[in-house]
Amino acid sequence: MNLEQLNNIAVKMVTPGQGLLAADESTGTIKKRFDSINTVSTEDKRRDWREMLFRTEDAMKNHISGVILYDETLRQSAKDGTPLVDLIRSHDAIPGIKVDMGAKPMAGRPGETITEGLDGLRARLAEYYDLGARFAKWRAVIEISNPDTADRVTPSWGAIKANTHALARYAALCQEANIVPIVEPEVLMGGYHGIQTCHDVTENVLKTLYSDLYEQGVILEGTILKPNMVVAGKRCPTQPSVEEVAERTVQVLKDCVPSAVPGIAFLSGGQDNVAATENLNAMNEIGGFPWNLTYSYGRALQQSALFTWAGDSANYDAAQKAFHHRARMNGLASMGQWSAEQEAAG
Ligand code: 13P
Repeated sequence: MNLEQLNNIAVKMVTPGQGLLAADESTGTIKKRFDSINTVSTEDKRRDWREMLFRTEDAMKNHISGVILYDETLRQSAKDGTPLVDLIRSHDAIPGIKVDMGAKPMAGRPGETITEGLDGLRARLAEYYDLGARFAKWRAVIEISNPDTADRVTPSWGAIKANTHALARYAALCQEANIVPIVEPEVLMGGYHGIQTCHDVTENVLKTLYSDLYEQGVILEGTILKPNMVVAGKRCPTQPSVEEVAERTVQVLKDCVPSAVPGIAFLSGGQDNVAATENLNAMNEIGGFPWNLTYSYGRALQQSALFTWAGDSANYDAAQKAFHHRARMNGLASMGQWSAEQEAAG
């Protein structure tokens, strides 16, 4: 393990003004995204869509420090034959790879999932390194039950522990392969729960995660955390203000994340595009924490460009413009410099 190399990459991933583009949708997930724009998901169409994003020079050069790819994309070339990895590197952005095999139903824990993919991971990481990946992602999924209807209260301790243990085993294998692990324990925001429940569950998950990372010998200076923000469930009738989301999220992170971690890059998790930007900006306005706080957004960076593109090459320029705008707004938010005026001017 080359700790200096790992730390340099982790620090670069969270450069102020920049963040990560999560373009690692699995074949199943990208099909759902394409269904929403009535576009058939073929290998060429997926290539065209992602190539268009990676060729958005202003966005990539100025606001995207790295791109999380899916296995297919890491091996794919642009229409003119340039490997997509080279295209990403040409903007001084770092290629990364999603290495988990998805969240699967957990035996003994009905309604909960465990993320799979540890078997054979050492060999896969070695190949991904050779293909150019310098960081990786593993997503664990934690779901909060509806207190009014659920037979069982989730998350259970067993599911939290199994998922954080797997994240720690993955992270140790990544570092052995000189790949920076993004550890992503996502507490889903789709439920009926209030913000206090999300606060408590996120705190429990993060405390358990950092204990497991310690037990598995993971060096925190060579990691990035990708958490959810502390929000109320989408179906909760009482929704918190931007200030409350920012204050509670910063509070939980301060309580749980050691200062040796170079950076924290949030997932957007189904938040409205502008809300994801505004919440990140509000946290950076608070400031005074030891890590850089930035974005590792999938939907919140891609959605407006996806709808503008709509699968039609005639919309290429307009879609690039939409992507550039979201990347620029989030870049400003990563420094606490975003404003509603700049948002509207886009
Ligand atoms: P969203 O920002 O769309 O939640 O995706 C981020 C991600 O990588 C989830 O694993």
